Amino acid sequence: MTTYLEAEANPIRNTGAIRIYGPEAFAGMRRACQLTARCLDALAEIVVPGVTTQTIDDFVAQFALDNDTVSATLNYRGYPKSVCTSINHVVCHGIPNDKPLKEGDIVNIDVTFVVDGWHGDSSRMYPVGKLKRAAERLCEVTYRSLLVGIEAVKPGGHIGDIGEAIQTYAESERCSVVRDFCGHGVGKLFHDAPNILHYGRRGEGPEMKPGMIFTIEPMINLGRPHVKILNDGWTAVTRDRTLSAQYEHSLGVTEEGCEVFTFSPGGLDTPGIDFQREPAATA
Ligand code: MF3
Ligand code: CO
Ligand code: CO
Repeated sequence: MTTYLEAEANPIRNTGAIRIYGPEAFAGMRRACQLTARCLDALAEIVVPGVTTQTIDDFVAQFALDNDTVSATLNYRGYPKSVCTSINHVVCHGIPNDKPLKEGDIVNIDVTFVVDGWHGDSSRMYPVGKLKRAAERLCEVTYRSLLVGIEAVKPGGHIGDIGEAIQTYAESERCSVVRDFCGHGVGKLFHDAPNILHYGRRGEGPEMKPGMIFTIEPMINLGRPHVKILNDGWTAVTRDRTLSAQYEHSLGVTEEGCEVFTFSPGGLDTPGIDFQREPAATA
């Protein structure tokens, strides 16, 4: 059974109940998410061959400082950095280090800033120089997977509608959906109920109601969906070492559908990727 809570009147703790937020929460999320989106926009110029992921971490830490905010990932359950940087076959939670990026790499940068207690959680793929066709196609398919998930968000529908839309589309492109990580409720808590699975069936899971706030963040692989965690306890990689990509938006359910809080103010939702809004005709 699903329980829904009026967010304002209840303590900040993940009890498994789904919070329903009001207009002030939506305004707070807009502010946090737009700050995150501005940082992700600025990173488009930083990510070039030769740059290290530690430089990206330094940039995000400085951006937080300059904007009187904090990164939610720093010291989160022992995570040591201000950002996650996941390169090529790394699925998520890659830890910045001093290894330079090289031409043809794809790197996911996942930023979460906290503004007045609200968490703005979003990630994008960044191409390093010129990509091979397979890598660019994976990024396109992954952002389109996120968009079909977003289109499935409407009150009266179910969380499973999102998963089915993503899985059906991604698999039709001969890609696979990672099962081991999911989207999540977000707000005053970084990770809250409900889990947003990126696979599943229409009609399954909790009903969506106006005022719910959560992320959708599909991880899509060129090969098989299975992942393993490296010895650092964080870095998730594809078991078959094939490429993996991810994009993430934070959004709120409205009466009509949803409001995406983390859209890029600079038109850089898919930086460096030649992305057409309409599905490309298949030859
Ligand atoms: N930002 C990630 C998410 O989308 C979570 C990162 S947690 C960390 O949910 F500890 F790895 F940083
Ligand atoms: Co998230
Ligand atoms: Co994130």
